[in-house]
Amino acid sequence: MAFSDSFLDELISRNDIEDVVSGYVQLTKRSGSNLFGLCPFHSEKTPSFSVSPDKQIYHCFGCGKGGSVINFIMEIENLSFPDAVAFLAKRAGMELPDDDTPQELKNKRARLLQLNRDAARFFYDTLSTPSGAEASAYIKKRGISRQMAVKFGLGAAPDSWNSLLDSMSSKGYTHQEMFEAGLIRKSRKGNGFYDYFRNRLMFPVIDVRGNVIGFSGRALGDNEPKYLNSPDTPVFNKSRCLFALNLAKKSKQGMLILSEGNIDVVSLHQAGYDCAVASLGTSLTPDQARLMTRYTEQVVIAYDADAAGVKAAQRAIPLLEKTGLSVKVLSIPGAKDPDEFIRANGADAFKKLIESSEDRVDYQLMLIKSKYKLDTDESRMGYLSEATVFLSGLPNAIEREIYGNRIAETAGVSPEAVKTEINNAYRRRKAGEKKRRESEIARPLQKAQPSDKSIRYENVVSAIAEEGVIRLLLLEPDLVSMCSLKQDDFTSSFLSKVYGLIKQRYSDGRDISPALLLSDLPQGEASQLTVIMQKPEKLSDSHVSLKAYIDRIQTEKLKANALSDLTAITQRYKEKKGYGG
Ligand code: GTP
Ligand code: MN
Repeated sequence: MAFSDSFLDELISRNDIEDVVSGYVQLTKRSGSNLFGLCPFHSEKTPSFSVSPDKQIYHCFGCGKGGSVINFIMEIENLSFPDAVAFLAKRAGMELPDDDTPQELKNKRARLLQLNRDAARFFYDTLSTPSGAEASAYIKKRGISRQMAVKFGLGAAPDSWNSLLDSMSSKGYTHQEMFEAGLIRKSRKGNGFYDYFRNRLMFPVIDVRGNVIGFSGRALGDNEPKYLNSPDTPVFNKSRCLFALNLAKKSKQGMLILSEGNIDVVSLHQAGYDCAVASLGTSLTPDQARLMTRYTEQVVIAYDADAAGVKAAQRAIPLLEKTGLSVKVLSIPGAKDPDEFIRANGADAFKKLIESSEDRVDYQLMLIKSKYKLDTDESRMGYLSEATVFLSGLPNAIEREIYGNRIAETAGVSPEAVKTEINNAYRRRKAGEKKRRESEIARPLQKAQPSDKSIRYENVVSAIAEEGVIRLLLLEPDLVSMCSLKQDDFTSSFLSKVYGLIKQRYSDGRDISPALLLSDLPQGEASQLTVIMQKPEKLSDSHVSLKAYIDRIQTEKLKANALSDLTAITQRYKEKKGYGG
């Protein structure tokens, strides 16, 4: 649902951020007008979580989380944007606005879901006809039982350009509807349409409410692409659903097994693991991690054994842990994926794998160890230094000690030496965090001059370049991953905040667009951002422009640093001479 700015404005003003946050975090006044407390989003001993009642925003200098009161509720209650809005509306006794297109959109969604259901039925029925014979044979070849095929509603897309199209037309669906459901595509030359899924084994994607929201189709041989998934539609968002969660949510096994492939999921269910799910052709997203928290506390990652699988697991681990899930990682010896392993070794062998699956620290240490032979002093040193750095990042002192002893044993050195190393690395890390925090806190203090509401730039030269960066990233979100700037490279705290929001959205896998970002900003800032977006920007050489902006910002930063050094020297000189400050 899209909320109007005025509704969101009222919602924000009737849910004072200080009140709301105080329900979760004990806040105390410390510096300037900001309130500080222990961050609820990462573990810490000294408060770096700040709330600004003036700006109605929160920000953690430790973990970088921040935003409006809506963002806070989304984060702490694990809610989507509309759900967080509903939560806050209820809190403030406000009525949720009627959607602009409520009935219309609801009708459309219902219609598309109906269409998807009919399409799933069509694919399913096709499986037992001659045009589904090849898919049916493929199911057999992959060792999928009849019972599983029925349970998953597997089907066949005929090798034809219009079978589904004709069948759905005869049921009264329009081309436009089939197009919006992602079932047919427009032909390139003219106004014709053709079936999107052809000659494929079809997996319906079913949400936890039992709606068929999309499809995943596997090629029946080696043709490319191996999988074709429905595009995102008004009822289907790949980054928010998990394949087979409709079945896994009923599992009594007390965990979810997260694998990569649809076939792996079917194979796991067949082997008795009715708790297996998979993401659909994308790496795991924060939304999917949050979705899992509704059904389990324990996730076992069972990705493919290849390098890509290991990399995907390393990306998934922190995402899952951030939501509070316990994570174990399975290594699958001698097979490329869970399906192959089960087919070769049976369900019991897989059970043993699960029982011996490692927690994430063991897993990381194992990965580090696999890079070193440990047969020379040099190799042992390499292993130790890498493992030490990793362990120094663990917040729990007991864990640091236990695993420290373990790596000492692996490398054949004394536990004391390793302990000292880890403690030193831990202290360096903490000192670095503190310094960063202090410099960030100091900046807004310097400019705590007039309480003029309009946004004032301290360094106009730098700010113009900063605006340019924001404009480019909003116009071309692909550039976000290429932008090396840190939030504290910005001289304007407003632009720095906007930059932070963009980065956050990017790392959360959320869409980035000026309109979406504006709804995250209070009115005054939203207006300023609108002004920035209206300034001209050439997009033909966007990489080059981005680089030029970054160079300008960094040059200004160097100048400013040099200046502040100079000021300090002058100051010390004056004091020595007895002039006072
Ligand atoms: P098998 O190799 O037959 O066992 O298939 P699998 O189901 O195990 O799939 P695989 O490990 O090759 O890929 C894992 C997942 O990545 C699939 O389930 C798809 O969701 C996705 N995927 C794989 N290939 C493609 C592709 O070509 N396009 C897209 N969009 N997604 C793919
Ligand atoms: Mn696979």
